[in-house]
Amino acid sequence: MAQQKTILRALAGETLPTPPIWMMRQAGRYLPEYKATRAQAGDFLSLCYNPELAAEVTLQPIRRYGFDAAILFADILLLPQALGADLWFVTGEGPRLSTITTADELAQLKPTEAIHDTLNPIYETVSILSRELPDETTLIGFAGAPWTVATYMIAGQGTPDQGPAHALKAENRPVFEGLINRITEGTIEYLSKQIDAGAECVKLFDSWAGSLQGDDFTEFSIKPMQQITAALKERHPGIPVIAFPRGAGERYVGVHAATGADCVAVDDGVDAAWVAEHVQIDGCVQGNLKSSHMVTGGDALVSETRRICAALKNGPHIFNLGHGITPDADPENVQLMIDTVRGA
Ligand code: CP3
Repeated sequence: MAQQKTILRALAGETLPTPPIWMMRQAGRYLPEYKATRAQAGDFLSLCYNPELAAEVTLQPIRRYGFDAAILFADILLLPQALGADLWFVTGEGPRLSTITTADELAQLKPTEAIHDTLNPIYETVSILSRELPDETTLIGFAGAPWTVATYMIAGQGTPDQGPAHALKAENRPVFEGLINRITEGTIEYLSKQIDAGAECVKLFDSWAGSLQGDDFTEFSIKPMQQITAALKERHPGIPVIAFPRGAGERYVGVHAATGADCVAVDDGVDAAWVAEHVQIDGCVQGNLKSSHMVTGGDALVSETRRICAALKNGPHIFNLGHGITPDADPENVQLMIDTVRGA
């Protein structure tokens, strides 16, 4: 029965003696086997749209480390591409997209039902994984949250301060809100298909939530995540949702209730003891270990891992990093973190 899986038990609110564990960007460039498969696929997007190879890289960290969850290998920018934006990746720099800043450009996006023409290979990856993963491993699907996806669609690339998205929000509210709505609608359909294909949980990445201030945080981070969560739970009763409003700081308080998510992922900017007292009281939490420990390792990695586990041991907890693992991480440090969590 699915509920035996440790991740699903923690998501349902159970306090486990040892927290289950997975890691953001666990399939990635710090692993030699990832680099080999990626070279075989060609570029990053070709890897995302190749179901056999995307499933292979998703499975690599499961084979190497026995993580309790696998996260679908894809990217949050595939949805904008499916909506009609041009998307490419510049090596060493990051993503580039054609921009949406006018009513005309917004109107030219494809209708929501057309996204599956582009995204079908992703659903195929999910179904391969749901057949091939070990029985005890939970399969997590994901999408970007609307604000974060919009920041890339408006700027056409990553930005340090999300300036272009904030400017459009101030200068052309109808276009900005129209874009948020189109992404929200598309995300519901995208995640719904991932769940149909076998995803057992979905995560919303709002990587730039921290740059939203005051009412904007509620309006453009929390509210779209709440709408997506409600729609998914109506169509797929019981599907667990993880919300990650990265950089929320003290506004992590109340995110479970405000979004309807079963789990709130926290970055490394908040203290684990504070999280226990103010966030975990409402449900499962995940995250917090600084990714740089995967580069530097040693005693600091062990003591920080133990400190987080101890602070969060009295409630539902999934061990994870505060953000994705970086390409310069040492795969042996990942093993050390896992051994520390599992008490070996
Ligand atoms: O977590 C996982 O292992 C699942 C796969 C996954 C990727 N991206 C693969 C990826 C997930 C969940 C993402 C989410 C994602 N993508 C986010 C939200 C999380 C976060 O990190 O804040 C964002 C903002 C993106 C957009 C994106 N994709 C950027 C800015 C970049 C370039 C930065 C970089 O590290 O090069 C990517 C590329 C990307 N997505 C890579 C991977 C493994 C590296 C691509 C490569 O192999 O060259």
